[in-house]
Amino acid sequence: WEQQFLPPPLQLDDRARAIKIDSRLAGLMLCGATLRRVGEVFSREIENGLRERPSSLQMENTYVPELPDGTEEGVFLALDLGGTNFRVLLLELQAGQLVREDVKQYHISDALRLGPGEDLFNFLADCVQDFLRTEGMENDELSLGFTFSFPMKQHSISSGELITWTKSFKCGGMEGVDVAALLQRCLHARGLRVTVQVLLNDTTGTLVAGAQLDPAVVIGVIMGTGSNGCYMERAERVQHWEAAHERVQDVCVDIEWGAFGDNGCLSFLRTEFDKEVDDNSLLATSFTFEKYIGGKYLGELLCAVLSGLARDGLFPAIPARGSLLSAHVSLFEEENVAGVCSRTAEALRDACGRAVSRHDALVAQHVARVISNRAAQLVSVCIATLLRRMSRAHVSVAVDGSVFKRHPRIRTLMERYIALLAPNHKFSLLGAEDGSGKGSALTAAIAARIAARSL
Ligand code: GLC
Repeated sequence: WEQQFLPPPLQLDDRARAIKIDSRLAGLMLCGATLRRVGEVFSREIENGLRERPSSLQMENTYVPELPDGTEEGVFLALDLGGTNFRVLLLELQAGQLVREDVKQYHISDALRLGPGEDLFNFLADCVQDFLRTEGMENDELSLGFTFSFPMKQHSISSGELITWTKSFKCGGMEGVDVAALLQRCLHARGLRVTVQVLLNDTTGTLVAGAQLDPAVVIGVIMGTGSNGCYMERAERVQHWEAAHERVQDVCVDIEWGAFGDNGCLSFLRTEFDKEVDDNSLLATSFTFEKYIGGKYLGELLCAVLSGLARDGLFPAIPARGSLLSAHVSLFEEENVAGVCSRTAEALRDACGRAVSRHDALVAQHVARVISNRAAQLVSVCIATLLRRMSRAHVSVAVDGSVFKRHPRIRTLMERYIALLAPNHKFSLLGAEDGSGKGSALTAAIAARIAARSL
């Protein structure tokens, strides 16, 4: 059982070099016992978070109490903010199915991502106005679902304060601000008749969109720029419940596992390479678990490991910082699967500013494999722990995000590791396209349905 977690050893003609490299990478190769320990710590942190005891996990009540039932109807605007592009969507649902989808993308400049928060939100409202003008709907009354893919303290299904920025955003003066209320103000200031009906995280959107495809979906996962998960928890286990809300049976909880271990409880996992990635990140010491998994960081990790090997004379040159991206991790893995290395060598030549040998390319592919394996293992521990919390015969996990979609091996690895870590639980992974858009409209429709029921 233990052995099934370890990636195969590096094979090089120079055996001595291969052994030295693998011993430098040992901290990145997690065995079954370590993963079990991570799972136990995760379980404990989940419990603490749900009970509002100190925990690195936010375990945020999203106030989304039910999933699609096929009656969702209407025309909705959806906003998707979280990556480098901002999207505005117009979606029409009929009997729970998407029958129309118009989308426009807007680039968010560095100045907006790192400047005052008011500027960012004014820009978002400008984009909505521009989009509605293009659609000829500037005067229409519309409901909006705002997918805001950052940690929030939610007060209701339609309001929530930003806790901290993550990934590549760091706008000033925003922590503790109700982002739905701010967006609403900016929309009203432009004379738009748009109401922010729901505020949600991308994992919630993914869960909701996945549940529309398969009613066994009760977990939503993002493996994209960042990584996070949410799941349907029994409401009686969730301590934080603001007064205005009726207690329901189940509720979607946004775990924010990107921050898992930020309190030090996972320090046994951290390698010198992780420390280097964290030290050079926009938000150091924050969301450190996400830096083991997220697409924003996998390329940097590859770069940090190759640099470490170069310093020890085991790799020919130090790659320039920022020259390797998670797309390279995927490319190296793709070539590794195919048993070739020409594009790997080309990318390394560009990153290192000098030609590298075939053996060096194989070393880089091996490093990509080791860090991909660890990312898959860590996300699998989280999913396996959730499966073990749920006493259900079969659970489908809706997954979205660029790493899940583009990495050639990640899905197979996750399937293998989840099965090893939760052997008594039946599960399937369901790719849920565009949870941030579709899930947002579906959640807005669910909120409208609930509101109509309580009239
Ligand atoms: C970051 C955010 C989280 C989001 C995830 C994936 O971890 O804090 O809210 O779900 O990225 O986009």
